[in-house]
Amino acid sequence: MYAFTKLVSALSLVAVANAFFTPEARHNTPATRPTGGSICSTKQFILANELPADINDHGGEPLPKPNSTYPVYTTLSVGMQNYTCGADSTWGPLGGYTFLFDISCLPQAHHAKFTSFVAALWDAAPPTVANEQIIDLFEQVNPGTALGLHYWIPDPNNATSGKINAVWDFTKSERYVNDTNRANAFLVAAETGIVPDPNDSVANSPWLYEPILYVDGKKDGQLADEVYRFNSNGGAPPNNTCPPGSVLQVKSTLNFWLFGGAWENTIF
Ligand SMILES: *[C@@H]1O[C@H](CO)[C@@H](O)[C@H](O)[C@H]1NC(C)=O
Ligand SMILES: *[C@@H]1O[C@H](CO)[C@@H](O)[C@H](O)[C@H]1NC(C)=O
Ligand SMILES: *[C@@H]1O[C@H](CO)[C@@H](O)[C@H](O)[C@H]1NC(C)=O
Ligand SMILES: *[C@@H]1O[C@H](CO)[C@@H](O)[C@H](O)[C@H]1NC(C)=O
Ligand SMILES: *[C@@H]1O[C@H](CO)[C@@H](O)[C@H](O)[C@H]1NC(C)=O
Ligand SMILES: *[C@@H]1O[C@H](CO)[C@@H](O)[C@H](O)[C@H]1NC(C)=O
Repeated sequence: MYAFTKLVSALSLVAVANAFFTPEARHNTPATRPTGGSICSTKQFILANELPADINDHGGEPLPKPNSTYPVYTTLSVGMQNYTCGADSTWGPLGGYTFLFDISCLPQAHHAKFTSFVAALWDAAPPTVANEQIIDLFEQVNPGTALGLHYWIPDPNNATSGKINAVWDFTKSERYVNDTNRANAFLVAAETGIVPDPNDSVANSPWLYEPILYVDGKKDGQLADEVYRFNSNGGAPPNNTCPPGSVLQVKSTLNFWLFGGAWENTIF
């Protein structure tokens, strides 16, 4: 359990950072919006500062600029990516399950390093530690930072296509318990931007731009309109041949920023 104990203390770094850096924290929530939104001001966060200037110069489909200046949520994602071995003996995506935490109270300059630090400890955690225990531990050290879950569902526009779509789901979060719009605190996204991770394109998941998915002409969820995935640590499948039909879980720690959506008016 030693490594995992260290993980717990790493997570307490959010609290430590807060002691040295005091971004404006939410104190009076508007009566019309009892919950939701980030704990600290997200007006310190600029996406362009997180992406290397040449991020779109190494293949893939380019990441466009966000449609709004400030994110509504800046999150740490910790969990597992699942893969299944296809008939061609290579790994293909099968979804996964990760927990999302609010890191808006950490200065932006600390985000990538903090994410890598948590990744190193999550990677070192013994197999006896379940994915689900992460959220309990994080909540003990930094109460109120849990935002929700990230997982995948069959393509809502074509359940038989074999494709999967990413979901960010905050509907069960304590943060939203009194929110009158709680049922819509999720989104299902498409994926239109994908570029290799600039640090290690083999081991780390690609960086993504994931705009909201439209189903029957309507947005599928109201949590956000645009999601960016970056600062990947691990998450990619191994680059080897595999026995068709087998499945694999790979630990993944990274950041998601969410822009737009029904909680955009909580930005302060
Ligand atoms: C992927 O792995 C997680 C455990 O981390 C599991 O809960 C989930 O059901 C798995 N399967 C899919 C299809 O996501
Ligand atoms: C759904 O996907 C399947 C498999 O790719 C395809 O054959 C079918 O035409 C698709 N249906 C629609 C409505 O696009
Ligand atoms: C939800 O409302 C209850 C009752 O007013 C209150 O005690 C609780 O603190 C609220 N929770 C949040 C997360 O706003
Ligand atoms: C972002 O803005 C562009 C240009 O106005 C628009 O075409 C696109 O649909 C917007 N994206 C989202 C996800 O709202
Ligand atoms: C990427 O590499 C740089 C330079 O080594 C490092 O500072 C940064 O923390 C790394 N980022 C991630 C997400 O691993
Ligand atoms: C995977 O390995 C093969 C053979 O070693 C290599 O040619 C290929 O470039 C590798 N792919 C990636 C994404 O690294």
